[in-house]
Parts: sequence; structure tokens; C-alpha cells
Amino acid sequence: MTEKLWWQTGIVYQVYPRSFQDSTGDGVGDLTGITSRLAYLQWLGVTAVWISPCFRSPMADHGYDVSDYRDIDPLFGVLADFDNLLAEAHRLGLKVILDFVPNHTSEQHPWFLESKSSRDNPKRDWYIWHDPKPDGSPPNNWLANFGGIAWEWDETTQQYYYHAFLKEQPDLNWRNPAVRQAMFDNLRFWLDRGVDGFRVDVMNSIIKDDQFRDNPPNPGWKPGDHPYLEYIPAFTLDRPEVQDVVTAMRAVFDEYDERVIIGEIYLPIERLVRYYGENGDGAHLPFNFQLVIKPWEAAPVRDSIRRYYAAIPPGGWPNWVLGNHDRPRIASRAGREQARVAAMALLTLWGTPTIYQGDELGMEDVPIPLDKIQDPQGLNIDPSRSRDPERTPMQWDASPNAGFTTAPEPWLPVASDYRDYNVEQEREDPKSFLTLHRRLIDLRQSEPALNAGSLAQLDTDGDLVAYERADGGTRFLVALNLGAGPASLPLDGRRGQITLTTHLDRLGDDVSGALELRGDEGVIVRLS
Ligand code: GLC
Repeated sequence: MTEKLWWQTGIVYQVYPRSFQDSTGDGVGDLTGITSRLAYLQWLGVTAVWISPCFRSPMADHGYDVSDYRDIDPLFGVLADFDNLLAEAHRLGLKVILDFVPNHTSEQHPWFLESKSSRDNPKRDWYIWHDPKPDGSPPNNWLANFGGIAWEWDETTQQYYYHAFLKEQPDLNWRNPAVRQAMFDNLRFWLDRGVDGFRVDVMNSIIKDDQFRDNPPNPGWKPGDHPYLEYIPAFTLDRPEVQDVVTAMRAVFDEYDERVIIGEIYLPIERLVRYYGENGDGAHLPFNFQLVIKPWEAAPVRDSIRRYYAAIPPGGWPNWVLGNHDRPRIASRAGREQARVAAMALLTLWGTPTIYQGDELGMEDVPIPLDKIQDPQGLNIDPSRSRDPERTPMQWDASPNAGFTTAPEPWLPVASDYRDYNVEQEREDPKSFLTLHRRLIDLRQSEPALNAGSLAQLDTDGDLVAYERADGGTRFLVALNLGAGPASLPLDGRRGQITLTTHLDRLGDDVSGALELRGDEGVIVRLS
């Protein structure tokens, strides 16, 4: 087997900086707070920490609206705090991945302030400006992800500008080579500092149709669905020309050693895998959100595994995700029992896993009172669309506010069950969620069969998902029961010993003939 790189064999852990650890007592997490918790991540055994945006931002979308790509927002600290974080992470053997937001800037970015100052400003064409229709209405029917039309009228220069998200997040014009160069230089600024990679925000959204054609109506859409989906974003997402931009961006990473580029891309599998690039010159890891968007049920999970691996191009490296700061948590989607089974899947499938902070504790979505909603998607569209519930503070211990902050009130409320679900408590509990994660991570990190090894899916039905992982003579069978009732997996002559179960018992038991699983149980068998 050829030598694998750290981002292939490793495990990524996502930190949402507002909610990881507050060190200043203002109720919001910060970089010094993250640095103080790096030892935890090292103990947990992950390889890399991906930090959601911590750059200068008016925070209209909590940092996904950047006003200076080369500085840290005062809320999170100063540049020296970041250098500290990076040095400490590297000292502990952890990689650091930052979050690049290329599709749009903040409306407060100096480029946009210039761009909107006059029609003949040299930066006018750095954003997407368009004349109104003759009746003064927006140029076409393109919708914004956070509600309403994606065009904002500018009184001064009498044109509309395009924003795929909030009006405070104007889209950059990536067809302009000067924009590309300036943004690539922003990447180099951090890569030169020693950052190990970037997760790239909405990678498939960077280029829009140059003829500004209307998006077609979505026949499946009905009132109550996300308003953005009323039209199929055929002319605003995944345009063919975006591939050139991705290739050019990848080339920036290739100027350095072993840096990783991960793309945030919500697309069906067949279209997603194009982002590996035609000759492997695209993203190293186009995020695979199959387990985030599909229900946690055996049939769709089996189907995703089969179709995803079949679609990966030669040389492409797979990856899996269960949750992030934009989607309901796995423990809420699947229930806590099944979330253990899901964790076993994430950490035994072939391909780089990304763990979302707090999922290793079994954290659930936290209900947020209406007057405390912070997320623009919840405020603009409907409280049920708010992403706040999955963004609540990390639960460190049983002290007030779960040890996240000394402020009387954190920026979002802490889960009410934090006294039972927190790092300190779960570390000591041999059956906890955290203990399960630590064991799974340890096993994956120490067994080449489980990280870089081959995967062969077993033909199962009902609630069972099963696969074999192998490297050289080492073989593991992973059997996952996604149902609440017992299930039996015929072993077809295989035999071995149980290495790990989601219940953290039966360890060392011999199995042969058939593997009996309890409801909501996942089992890893070392085959002999
Ligand atoms: C991505 C981010 C999300 C953000 C959006 C706009 O989807 O993950 O949090 O709101 O892009 O930048």
C-alpha cells in the first residue's frame, strides 16, 4: 500500500469557535479558550482541528461574513493568539485547518465599500452588479439561502448586487482574475503561517450563470419547505466553470507540502465527486454529507455506502460526516442510542471522518427560547430553521455553564442535561459516549485496516449494515444494528473475537456461526 497522508489516515474535529471555550468571560468562545483545550483533543486522539471562521467580521452570519481575511476578529482575540494556538497545536502533534469563505465577503469588507462607491470604481467588477429589469424589479428570480430575493438594490449607483446568503454577504465575482489573485493571496497568508489546510465554504456556489438565466421552478416544492428551494438552483450552483476555480485554488495548496483542501458541497453523489477534479486536481476531500442529509435508517445508509464508494474516482479519497454547525445533531436526529451506532459507523467506514464538537459527548440540539434566537436563518425564515440548537456551548464539566464561560450568561444557553453529559463526568464513566468515542478513535488510529484499509460491504437487509475492513492479514467485521430490536448476522464461516461494542461490553467474546446483535448495537469483530 502506498504511503498515506495525514488527512487520509487521520480524524478531523470541528470546533465552532463561539461555543468551544470562553477565556475572557464575555460569554463567547475565543482562540485562547481553544488553545487551553487542545490537550483535550490530543487526549481524545483526533488528528486535526478545523476551526470555523475566526476572522474579522461584523458577525451578521457569525463569522461567515468576513471583513478582513488576514486578521482575527477582536471577539476571538488577536493574530498573536492565533499564532499561539497554531504553535501549541503543532507542539501537541495536532494539525490546524481554517475555514475559507470565498463565495462572499462582508458588506463591510473594504473591497465592497469601494465597489459600491461608484460604477466606475476599479473594484466595481469584484462583485456581481446588475441593472434592474425595465420595470425596476430585480434582474431575475434568484433566491437567497436565508430568505427573500438574492438581489439588493443600491440607491447610490442604481444597480442591484447579488448575495446568495444575507444582503450583508455580497457575492464576489470569481470570473474576475483580480478577485482570484487577491483571494488566493489571502489563502497564502495563512498557509505561509503554517496552517495545515482549509475547509472551503460553499465551494460549488462560487460561480453563477454569466447569462443570469432564471432558475427553474421546483415541482416538488410546497409551502412550508425551505423557501430557497422554491426554485432549483440550476443557474446559481454547480456551474461547469466552477471546476476551473477549484483547480486554480487547489494549485495554491500544491505550492505547499501536505496541506489539505476540503470543500463544503451539498450535492447528489454523482455531482459531488466531480469536485475531486478531472485529474485529481480538485479538492482533496469534497465533504460527503450523505449521513447528514439522509435519514439514519439502514436502507438509505446501505445505499449511500454502496453508491458513494462506487462513485469515487481513481485516486480519490473518501470522507464521512455526521454533523456540523448547520444541521441538527445526530443524537437528536437518530436518538442517543443510535447516535452511538452512528459514531461507530463514522469511525470505521473507509474515508476521513469529521467529528462535530460535542457529538462525542452525545450532545443533543438545545431548544432556544424565541427571544434568544441568534441565527439569521431562524430570524429571517422561521424559528424552526434556526441553527442555534446545534451551536450551543461545549459541555466541559458540571460547574455553572458547563465550564464554558464565567459570564453569567453564555451567548446561547447551555443544554439542561449538561451535568450528566460533559467531558469531566464522561471521562470517568467506562460506558459513556465519550469513552466509546475514545475507544473507537484509538482503534482506528492504531489499526491500518480501519483507517486506510479496504472496505467490502456485506449484503444485509432489515436493520443491518455490515462491512469488512482489511489490511494485509488483519481483518475486521463491523456490524451495525440500526433498529431497536435484536438482529442476527450470519457469519458465513467467519469467526473472531469482539473488539468493541457500542455498549462497551462483550469485549473478547468469541463469535462464530452468527453474530447476535441487541437493539441499537454496533459490534466490531477482529476476524481470525
Ligand atoms: C456555509 C456555512 C454556513 C454559512 C453559509 C454562508 O454553509 O457552513 O454556516 O451560513 O455557508 O457562508
